[in-house]
This record gives sequence, C-alpha cells and structure tokens, in this order.
Amino acid sequence: MRKKMIVANWKMNGTRETTAELLAKLARTLSPWAGVEVVICPPFVYLEQAQRLLEKTDLKWGGQNVHHIDQGAFTGEISAAMLRDFGCSYVIVGHSERRHEAGETDFLVAQKVLQACKCGLTPILCVGETRAERAAGSTNGVVLRQLEAVVLLAGISGFDGVVVAYEPVWAIGNGTPALPEEAQAVHKLIRCFISEKNDSIASRVPILYGGSVTSQNSQTFCSKPDVDGVLVGGASLKAEELISMVEQVA
Ligand code: PGA
Repeated sequence: MRKKMIVANWKMNGTRETTAELLAKLARTLSPWAGVEVVICPPFVYLEQAQRLLEKTDLKWGGQNVHHIDQGAFTGEISAAMLRDFGCSYVIVGHSERRHEAGETDFLVAQKVLQACKCGLTPILCVGETRAERAAGSTNGVVLRQLEAVVLLAGISGFDGVVVAYEPVWAIGNGTPALPEEAQAVHKLIRCFISEKNDSIASRVPILYGGSVTSQNSQTFCSKPDVDGVLVGGASLKAEELISMVEQVA
C-alpha cells in the first residue's frame, strides 16, 4: 500500500528566525508520527536549519528546485549533490511558478526529474493546467504532455521512484481548490497513463494533489482512491494547520 504524504512548500517565505521557530514546533509535535511521510521544502538558504532541526525526527526535507547538470558555471543555481549535502531526500521539480515565471519547459523539467533520481533524491514532479487550458477543455492533454516528456527522455522507468503532484494552476494560492472528484479524475488519468506502460510502477507512484489545500479539505482529498497526499503552500506556513492536516490524514 502507498504511504500517505504531506509536502509543505514554503516557497519564498520566512526569515531565519520564523523558519527556525516553525521547524522547531514541527519537530516537537510531529516527530513520533507514523504512517504519514511529511516533507518540508523551505527556501534553499534555510535547508541547513531544516537539516539541523529535523535530522533526529521522522520528518524529511527537500529543495524547491534543482539544476539538471551535475556542477559548473551556472550562476545562481543549486545542484542535486548540494541538496544531498544538506540531507535532502526530496526535491520539487516543475512547479507551475517555475514553469511560468522561470520559463521551464516540459523537457527541462523531465531532465531535472532524471537528475534528481540519478543523485539519490526523490523528485516531486508537478503537473497541471492553467485556467485558460482548463476552459479550453485541454486539462487531460496538458497533463499527459507534461508526463510524456519524462517517458520520451527515460522510458516509463523514468517514473520509478518519482512522486507526481497534480496542481491545477488555477487552484493555487487563491482559496479555491479543485473539487476532490475533479482531482480524483486527473489522478486516475495519471495512474492509467503510467499503468498502460508499467502496472507495477503505476501502483507504487504516489500522486499528490496541490492547490489551496488546508486542514479543512485535506482529508477529503486524501480519501479519494488515487490521491495519496497533498502538496501544501500557504497553509503549510502555519504550524497548527500543518499539524492538523497530518493528524487527520494519519
Ligand atoms: P497553495 O500552493 O497551497 O498556497 O495553493 C500550493 C503550491 O503551489 O504548491
């Protein structure tokens, strides 16, 4: 059976002080928790704090992005090996804010997935359609195209050890999540896409929902058969919210 997951994406928020407070609170409260994989993704510069404050707990931590090449003249970039150096187990790749603001293409995102896997990180591959794409009825086509990029580069085994997060762009950060039934339909599409090529990988791949998740709705999403957890932005910046979500999902 797939373990439930809750991933906190803190995006570009916090200070050294607020991050330490939040991490310490989570470390105290969530430490003995079993059955839910909790992953905290702070900004890069606070990963050292995450490592220091979380390393004796069951919580995991990860980056919000990674470069697709091992090392070299890539000013401002962070490599997978560097993330490993700070004890990261996970890395978010292809978040819509990077696809749209940093212009990351499906191909580049697929390269990042492979690079993360090669270096011993579990990539959390974000996919999802914009509001306009949804209105045009192309949700499934967009999501499948984003998934296909990984297959083109690595075959279906490119999904082995990957976490997929369905994050409809129109539902992110605005308090209006997708309906749990809508999410389930896309999650099923994602699992079918993988299972057509490899059933056993499909049965192992966790598929998370993201977009305006709070403690009010996380449980409803997680009760859907193909929703294995949630990727949480805004609400994960409040310790009480995150703790409540973990308690409910557990
Ligand atoms: P949100 O963000 O929970 O604030 O909608 C989710 C995400 O972008 O990962």
